[in-house]
Amino acid sequence: MNKINARSGTFLDNMKLPVHRWFRYSAGFSAQWVEDEIIRFELESGKKAKLLDPFVGSGTACLSACALQRKSIGLEGHPFVARIGQAKNLWHLNSDEFVDSCLEIVDRARNIKPSQIILDNKGLLEKCYETESLQRLFSLRLAYEDLKTESAIWQLSWLNITSILRACSTAGTAQWQYILPKKNKSRVLDPYEAFLAKMDLMASDMKLSQKKGWGKTANIIQYDSRKNFVEKNFNLAITSPPYPNNYDYADSTRLEMTFWGEINGWGDLKHAVRPSIMRSCSQHSASDKINLDEILSNPELSPILAELQPATKELAAIRLTKGGRKTYHTMVAAYFYDLAKIIRNVYASLEKDARACFVIGDSAPYGVHVPAERWLGELALSVGFKRFQFEKIRDRNIKWKNRTHTVPLHEGRLWLIK
Ligand SMILES: C[S@@+](CC[C@H](N)C(=O)[O-])C[C@H]1O[C@@H](n2cnc3c(N)ncnc32)[C@H](O)[C@@H]1O
Repeated sequence: MNKINARSGTFLDNMKLPVHRWFRYSAGFSAQWVEDEIIRFELESGKKAKLLDPFVGSGTACLSACALQRKSIGLEGHPFVARIGQAKNLWHLNSDEFVDSCLEIVDRARNIKPSQIILDNKGLLEKCYETESLQRLFSLRLAYEDLKTESAIWQLSWLNITSILRACSTAGTAQWQYILPKKNKSRVLDPYEAFLAKMDLMASDMKLSQKKGWGKTANIIQYDSRKNFVEKNFNLAITSPPYPNNYDYADSTRLEMTFWGEINGWGDLKHAVRPSIMRSCSQHSASDKINLDEILSNPELSPILAELQPATKELAAIRLTKGGRKTYHTMVAAYFYDLAKIIRNVYASLEKDARACFVIGDSAPYGVHVPAERWLGELALSVGFKRFQFEKIRDRNIKWKNRTHTVPLHEGRLWLIK
């Protein structure tokens, strides 16, 4: 495979790109890289790309396909994240109507008296906002809820409010999106100003993408990719699954979901989000109460069992010596079991000679190396892919929470050829 200079692993570059920049999703990858890959695929295969992303997150891959007027389908399990991607996919609506809906919201919000506002879930929100900011944000929410109709334009106003919640909070955000109520940040925006500024940015991006001739070619669906895919005949898959590195995707939008009254606290993620996303963190595997032997006995895991089983046994033993007793042993087993099903689904949805790229990194929970790219490559061969190849992008030396390990880690692109 040719080297491509654009970084596939980071969302940062997208913050300069129209539409992509509407919501900062730290877990995302580079939109420019996806476009480059689509173009390269077409040059090399002589076919028009039909793209699949089974972990579409905030919609990056699908929007890149729109920019090139190529058909795509994106699946995202997390209901709130899927809604963000779906709202971004409405870039083609009328920007004047969008501006009107936002101005109506601000006008209505400014006339709501603080006494009319009843705050749901004071706990987290009060820790994250000054009183006046919170009142203003809630008045935006109330105004939106009063005014919204069935028209899709209101999904964009919903995204506008959602996307300013972090910038208006005094709380910091960790590198990977978790909210940090104890860490204060210095620059905090006023909600009305932030809402109006975002409205301007979104409206000008809508005009720009329409002027550039983007195609209404993407379909973003809230869907658990472990279930069989309905749509087939893709010739390219570009995706990035969760890594086995204990990042809790369910928790990535806790502040936003709490603000909208969808959850009351971390515990609610168990029912609101976890059932429709794969297991990639110990909090999830603990709450699922997984039986290790039972999960390892699944035939899907047999291609890697000779290595996976000892790794899980080692993790189970180390766990007993640690205060936190994290369930990495069941997390790792469930992680590969879930991904085995998804790789099988991707294979079944691809045409002959199609290619799939999984941006992936390895990990070392409790210092036990988990060679994700090789194990996923072997699982891919077992479902029928002809070959796999790993293209390293960078080395990583991630420090696991509260402890260090010396296992060198890396990140890159796992290419699968059907
Ligand atoms: C690394 S992120 C992908 C980000 C995306 N490339 C972007 O640019 O926004 C992985 C995504 O997979 C989603 N996910 C996890 N399990 C899933 C499942 N079973 N089905 C579909 N999506 C899932 C997570 O919620 C997360 O948004």
